[in-house]
Amino acid sequence: MNHFYQKSFLKEIDFNAAELNYLIDFAIHLKQLKQKNIPHPYLQGKNIALLFEKSSTRTRSAFTVAAIDLGAHPEFLGKNDIQFGTKESVVDTAKILGGMFDGIEFRGFKQQTVETLAQASGVPVWNGLTDEWHPTQMIADFMTLKEHFGKLKGLTLTYVGDGRNNVANSLLVTGAILGVNIHIGAPTDLQPSKKVVQAAQQAAGKSGAEILITADPQQAVAGADALYTDVWVSMGEKVDYHQRIEQLLAYQINSELVAATHKQDTVILHCLPAFHDTNTSIGRKFMADYNLTALEITDEVFQSTNSLVFQEGANRMPAIKAIMAATLGNLFIPEIFK
Ligand code: CP
Ligand code: NVA
Repeated sequence: MNHFYQKSFLKEIDFNAAELNYLIDFAIHLKQLKQKNIPHPYLQGKNIALLFEKSSTRTRSAFTVAAIDLGAHPEFLGKNDIQFGTKESVVDTAKILGGMFDGIEFRGFKQQTVETLAQASGVPVWNGLTDEWHPTQMIADFMTLKEHFGKLKGLTLTYVGDGRNNVANSLLVTGAILGVNIHIGAPTDLQPSKKVVQAAQQAAGKSGAEILITADPQQAVAGADALYTDVWVSMGEKVDYHQRIEQLLAYQINSELVAATHKQDTVILHCLPAFHDTNTSIGRKFMADYNLTALEITDEVFQSTNSLVFQEGANRMPAIKAIMAATLGNLFIPEIFK
């Protein structure tokens, strides 16, 4: 009996610690199978729709490669390629796609869209990022921590920067479920919403995770096993970039902030893409106004030996593979979830 069969993966709070830990361990297992060239075609003959309203490098690539490794056929449907949302409603699109495809990935703006796709399509739907949550990223991130530290419970992860975005929300809730202490360092205006904090506190009550939300970046990072940041302006946000830079400059991950952990071995995570140097057009444009060479993380820290960012990026593929195989594959999964 497969506990996950035909379930959608829309947000972390729909899952408990045993379920998330299972997906993390399954991802580690699938990564090893791939490294040993052992075939794992759990989704032979399945067809998968990849629906993108926003752009992507990692998520799109990970879903494509994972689907092919699992024996499935992925089909990319960009927002300009199909009628979605302009000439055809989300519900009608969901019914049509659900009639042809066995599973649907969605990346876009509203969380409600991915929830509606799941309700109306009748097939598993996977959230590849919305304005609110980035759940497939979480399986890769906590998998990376588990590979590095050999455990999750009791670790402390500090996120600094925009504390209201999808990645911050997801880290807060996922850490709370898994028993990983989460510290958020963000200015008051950019701290997580009450709704997200309440969900995290409820989960933390069960797991024993400690939650700290503070405007003081030094306090936030003290004792952290992992430091995490994300872009200061997320896709689709209509905010003044200059204002954001001024709000968040004190939260940049640089060597001083790393030293403020008072630990030698703190690892560095970032979901990517990152503005760590002037080699991007957006980065260059705004950095020049402030005489900066990086935004949310300096190149020195980004490239340092404790940085796991590219291991984390590569882990998106087995993480997504685990999520798709568990929810769509007819495989044996022990009943450990009650
Ligand atoms: N981290 C992440 O989701 O990257 P992409 O936007 O490239 O998919
Ligand atoms: N918060 C970022 C994450 C990108 C993977 C965004 O939504 O643009």
